[in-house]
Amino acid sequence: MTDDVLTHSSDESDLLSGRCSPADQEPEILSLRPGRLSEYIGQADVVETLKIAIEAAMQRGEPIDHVLFHGPPGLGKTTLAHIIANETGTHLTITSGPALEKGGDLIGLLTRLEEGDILLIDEIHRIPKTVEEFLYPAMEDFAVDFMFDKGIHARSHRYRLNRFALVGATTRVGLLSAPLRDRFGIFRNLNFYSIQDLEIIVKRSARLLEIEIDPQGATELAMRSRGTPRIVNRLLKRVRDYSQVRAEGIITQKTTQIALNLEGVDKKGLTSLDRRYLKTIIDYYHGGPVGIEAIAATLQEESDTLVDVVEPYLLKIGMILRTSSGRRTTESACEHLASLEPFSA
Ligand code: ADE
Repeated sequence: MTDDVLTHSSDESDLLSGRCSPADQEPEILSLRPGRLSEYIGQADVVETLKIAIEAAMQRGEPIDHVLFHGPPGLGKTTLAHIIANETGTHLTITSGPALEKGGDLIGLLTRLEEGDILLIDEIHRIPKTVEEFLYPAMEDFAVDFMFDKGIHARSHRYRLNRFALVGATTRVGLLSAPLRDRFGIFRNLNFYSIQDLEIIVKRSARLLEIEIDPQGATELAMRSRGTPRIVNRLLKRVRDYSQVRAEGIITQKTTQIALNLEGVDKKGLTSLDRRYLKTIIDYYHGGPVGIEAIAATLQEESDTLVDVVEPYLLKIGMILRTSSGRRTTESACEHLASLEPFSA
């Protein structure tokens, strides 16, 4: 993976392929995750859509429509899948696109789902085409079609599934095929969180972890978390360590600044990978425009990591522009980097 701070997805081995009740997984992270829509902070329109869909489906005694969440890592796609299962009193099964190598892998999961269960496929844009084709009848008719023999002897057998809801999660909605995209009834983008929402989230997490944090400490953490709850919760733990060992145990603006500077997280929340990315465009390519593959080669990083993890936030805060001829840095990126000297990449 990339910079620690930006680490976002669980190991593939963590992505359970077996059915579980939501509370079985990631006990520490889960305890910080809201378990109910009423506890969920931010993404107000998505929360409202889900409240309506869940209530309506429960009144009808049906599973909710299939849901697709897209957006940068760490914004709550998996958390919302856990919440949907909690709210509907069903089980959640989690897998990922790359873990589903063969049709049989998916069929094994589908046939074990009980009525109303939720199946989360993370990184659904990476599902192999051959496996994707089994999803179409499963989503549309709650059935899987088995083929026996080939050529003129070919026969198919339709196996009925329990009715379930698929939750797809992706950082790259543009890579989804149209037939797959069109089979989701609910299709929502998750946006970066405001500083105010992150302050509320970090205060809630501090309360759950029994950490003392003052309002300025919460604001500083929120400002350095790239609009991302997963990052604010991770950084909270780093600042807790620092405050415990090098200060009086209370998280303040000062302890947050020192602890996060040590982590390489600057006042705008950029990490060393973000700064190296910006500097590469400025120093090697005169501010751009430059193609993503050239930047990736210079940085010796995967272009997918840059596109999924680094660029969305830099675009959001206006430090880069994506044009038809490539990426360009803006004046604000140059000013930010200059303001950090000598604290730089
Ligand atoms: N923890 C992580 N994300 C959260 C959210 N959106 N609301 C409340 N707590 C959270």
